[in-house]
Amino acid sequence: MRILLTGGAGFIGSHIALLLLERGYDVLILDSFVNSSFNVINRIKTYLDNKDLKYNLKIIKGDIRDKRTVDNIFFESLKESKPIETVLHLAGLKSVSDSVTNPLHYWDVNVGGTLNLLLTMNEYECHSLVFSSSATIYGLSDSIPMSENHNISPINPYGKTKVAIENMFDDLYKSNKNLWKICSLRYFNPVGAHPSGLIGEDPIGIPNNLFPFITQVAIGRRTVLNVYGDNWETRDGSGVRDYIHIIDLAQGHLASIDYLNSNESCLEFINLGSGKGYSVFQIISQFELSTGCQIPFDIQSRRDGDVGVCYADISKAKKLLGWAPKKSLEEICLDGWNWQIKNPNGYT
Ligand SMILES: NC(=O)c1ccc[n+]([C@@H]2O[C@H](COP(=O)([O-])OP(=O)(O)OC[C@H]3O[C@@H](n4cnc5c(N)ncnc54)[C@H](O)[C@@H]3O)[C@@H](O)[C@H]2O)c1
Repeated sequence: MRILLTGGAGFIGSHIALLLLERGYDVLILDSFVNSSFNVINRIKTYLDNKDLKYNLKIIKGDIRDKRTVDNIFFESLKESKPIETVLHLAGLKSVSDSVTNPLHYWDVNVGGTLNLLLTMNEYECHSLVFSSSATIYGLSDSIPMSENHNISPINPYGKTKVAIENMFDDLYKSNKNLWKICSLRYFNPVGAHPSGLIGEDPIGIPNNLFPFITQVAIGRRTVLNVYGDNWETRDGSGVRDYIHIIDLAQGHLASIDYLNSNESCLEFINLGSGKGYSVFQIISQFELSTGCQIPFDIQSRRDGDVGVCYADISKAKKLLGWAPKKSLEEICLDGWNWQIKNPNGYT
């Protein structure tokens, strides 16, 4: 069975690709490499070669918005007698701040790209899809844990594009309830790296997320970590979030493929998180304990639009997908640090 993995060279996609190939899937990656390096592909191959695994991996450099490219992928796969049976759609832009500055670009790539993909899938009678949605679609509130029924009210263009895509799925599913099988996975904060240290997160510029910031401070690429607010109503005053090990998140995609394969048509919106809330200070302490590094930090004022506590209710993922996160906060710290020390400047 051939899987089309869009955005497969990115942080999350590369980890999914590796697990899929390890499990024997035939994988075709479509990526424009606008936010990733081709070295990722070499690293995936190195890992599989080192393990003496035979694998089927094809890479197409192209844009998800380009009709001819996407059509060609389905057409050629059919010609090879390896029709694409499922699409994992991760290609897209993900910076909240960039989306505020360039909203049209986000609508074009995220929504336009997904529309193009869905049109082509429909043409080639491929109706099985796993999509990367995000917890940023949920409205601000301290009501926790957040279930899939939490109110949807994104506060930035990035989150709005994810909602628009989920609405598109809803229309599509309702148009013919016997056709489409879709899992839209709402990620919380994926962090850490593959335990091999061969692949990991390599943000371009200043990291938007806490973990890569911590590891870059630890390795000396940045001098100090900014902590936004120490007066939240939490155990220690710092903000509490849900961090999920990237391997657990990737496993959630494999479980989703199994779910789609064993079910009739469906449309499911599913949270993928650890289901636990960790405070910023707790993470700094765990990171220092696990790695022996010191993380100097500065307290800054709260940022607009932040909440004190946010973590996922993952009971739906557990029940529906038979999936549960297995990795601890310590493994997140150790694997993230292992990646950073082996690759102080990322993939470059
Ligand atoms: N990382 C997170 O914290 C997070 C949280 C929630 C949801 N998501 C979603 O998960 C998906 C993957 O995120 P990631 O962290 O791996 O990001 P990433 O930027 O590392 O990966 C995205 C990949 O998509 C590719 N891409 C971008 N535009 C493209 C286009 N027009 N055509 C083809 N390829 C294109 C990029 O080159 C990159 O390799 C994204 O859709 C993102 O919105 C990520």
